[in-house]
Amino acid sequence: MQQDTLQCVTGQFTLLRPGTNDHQALRAWDASDEYLINLVTQRHPLAKITLINDQFGALGVALSKQVSCWVSDSYCASEALNLNLQKNSVNPLQQFSPLSNWPSEGNIAVIKLPKNLSYLHYLIEKCQQANITTLLIAGMMKHLPKNILDYLQKFGSVKRHPFVKKSTIYELQLEQVAPSKYPKVNQFSGIELVSHANVFGRDKLDPGADFFLQHLNKLPKAHSVADLCCGSGILGLKYAQDHKGSSLDFYDESFMAVESARLSWQANKLPENAHFYWDDGITNTSKANYDLILCNPPFHEQFTVGDHIAKRLFKDAQQSLNPNGRIIVVGNRHLGYHKTLTKYFKNVEQIAADSKFILLAAYA
Ligand SMILES: C[S@@+](CC[C@H](N)C(=O)[O-])C[C@H]1O[C@@H](n2cnc3c(N)ncnc32)[C@H](O)[C@@H]1O
Repeated sequence: MQQDTLQCVTGQFTLLRPGTNDHQALRAWDASDEYLINLVTQRHPLAKITLINDQFGALGVALSKQVSCWVSDSYCASEALNLNLQKNSVNPLQQFSPLSNWPSEGNIAVIKLPKNLSYLHYLIEKCQQANITTLLIAGMMKHLPKNILDYLQKFGSVKRHPFVKKSTIYELQLEQVAPSKYPKVNQFSGIELVSHANVFGRDKLDPGADFFLQHLNKLPKAHSVADLCCGSGILGLKYAQDHKGSSLDFYDESFMAVESARLSWQANKLPENAHFYWDDGITNTSKANYDLILCNPPFHEQFTVGDHIAKRLFKDAQQSLNPNGRIIVVGNRHLGYHKTLTKYFKNVEQIAADSKFILLAAYA
């Protein structure tokens, strides 16, 4: 796990970035976090902050005295925050999911720019509901969508602070917010799929998931099945629809994904033998002993691309399968999951492949 020292106006903090290995030089913060810490302490020293989308808890730790409410969709971010608060002997913060009612104690919102604008829109609407009118939205230049200024101007007046170390902050004074169109319902492969604003594949079926579904009939009937990295649950839902009697567990590190999978399960009127877990891989359940795990793994963590997450997930899966169990993984051919899986499983077989995707089965 990467460890570094953040030296800033509010102190010196040792910050860990979980999920990385010693060969990855990835820090728990970036220049836009440092910029936010400076701006908040200089211009808004007395404000109570609703802090949103802090990636590894660096902002929560450094601004803890002003944070009244810490909001994240990510289980991994919440775990990183807890670890870093403890490491620096800082008191716990009040944590909320994006879907819960946030307390209206905050005077300003500090937001790390999320990857998708649908989610940003949703967060802006939630700020309005919590009576917050000043929003500081920060990001690295390389992560800013091209039209971000025009986009933000739909919600009120916007000032862009100067670029510092390739990062910037938009200060938005909120005026009007059109309602977010999420959660949204789509029909994919005979499944009614409900998706909240920050869920992968919320507008169209992922081509990898589509490829997986085309070959779902090649999988054995299994009693106990997990959909690992479920998103809105398309793989597990379709499997359950085709195999009545199987019990399904859904896992995702996105709170909105887990809640979407739960809503989708209800929308498809499937029997009541499903459970839903907000988790990093499969770590928080002692009963995990699956016959079958279905997985369309992520290949990035926020803006960081790499196979470090897939490796962690495959290791968890290996420990969560019964001795005759198997994991079925779909991926882009170029990601080389065949090789990665052989680190954790004796047998890795190809079920199907086309020019872009490969579907693999791995077992002991
Ligand atoms: C490629 S999407 C697949 C979604 C869905 N299963 C599908 O096929 O359309 C990957 C999913 O992995 C989730 N994810 C990322 N990191 C994770 C982790 N450490 N543990 C569990 N889920 C994770 C993401 O939130 C995302 O929903």
